[in-house]
Amino acid sequence: DKNLIDLSVMSTEQIDKIIRKAKKIMQSPADYRHACDGKILATLFYEPSTRTQMSFQTAMLKLGGRTIGFDNPMNSSVSKGESLKDTITIVGEYADIIAIRHPVEGTAAAASLYAGVPVINCGDGGHLHPTQTLADIITLSCEKGRLDNLRVGVCGDLLNGRTVHSLIKTLAKYPNNSFVLISTKELSVPLYVIDILEKNGCKYEISHSLADAITDLDVLYMTRIQRERFASEEDYQAQKNVFVLDKEKLDKAKENMIILHPLPRVNEITVDIDDDPRALYFKQAQYGMYGRMALILLLLQDDEFFVENRPFVVS
Ligand code: CP
Repeated sequence: DKNLIDLSVMSTEQIDKIIRKAKKIMQSPADYRHACDGKILATLFYEPSTRTQMSFQTAMLKLGGRTIGFDNPMNSSVSKGESLKDTITIVGEYADIIAIRHPVEGTAAAASLYAGVPVINCGDGGHLHPTQTLADIITLSCEKGRLDNLRVGVCGDLLNGRTVHSLIKTLAKYPNNSFVLISTKELSVPLYVIDILEKNGCKYEISHSLADAITDLDVLYMTRIQRERFASEEDYQAQKNVFVLDKEKLDKAKENMIILHPLPRVNEITVDIDDDPRALYFKQAQYGMYGRMALILLLLQDDEFFVENRPFVVS
């Protein structure tokens, strides 16, 4: 099945292949200028996005292809009641590859049933965001030189944060990674993610203090509180601003710790940290574009790729 629904169902060899490809493109982007001549990418975004949608569009344009799609379903026939099945069936006839974001968990997997072309999950509700994980692990590979033996702190909305779920599930596949799960009790990581850590034999700790947890981390992955996924504004107000990375806390961190964030940031990292050499979140977004270029190429050109990737592994 040539889809990317959940990065963590791929073997580490397959994942490493995407990273290698992304690095090759980074070194020599001009070599890939015509790699997707004549190909069309559809970006169907039922939820807002800046990075994911535009970096996919940029990736395809840099590969010589073209893009179609919508960034607001209300400007498409979805507003008239068209079903996901009908929309995907039609777009699958127009495009060679579909990148989809949707507020409902499992939608990308469902879309892969209806499309005759590869489908990429660009975020399905609070579930998974595999191409953000690609951006994250390419950053780790380039900036830390490894995807194993890392002590990774993840902080913020660990309940609703699909980027966190994808990242933990993927890094759990590599040896000797340990995790510090920093959140309020209400926004703890879902039990199925804990289950995956335990099944993979990963060490993990639960913390309610960023100031305490930061001292021995190799990586700090900050996340936004996902306002749009709260039942009420009152519940959101109670959770926002609980964890803020500022200079005082950063002073307690190791000199070579790196700070990642999938973005957008609201106020969980103060802007005076942006110039710190450890702050890599903007670079991380750039790595993401190369990861998406590599993914498009492998999905469209490598017949041997993704044969083991089953879209219905819901974990
Ligand atoms: N990281 C991420 O998914 O950003 P966007 O919501 O802007 O795409």
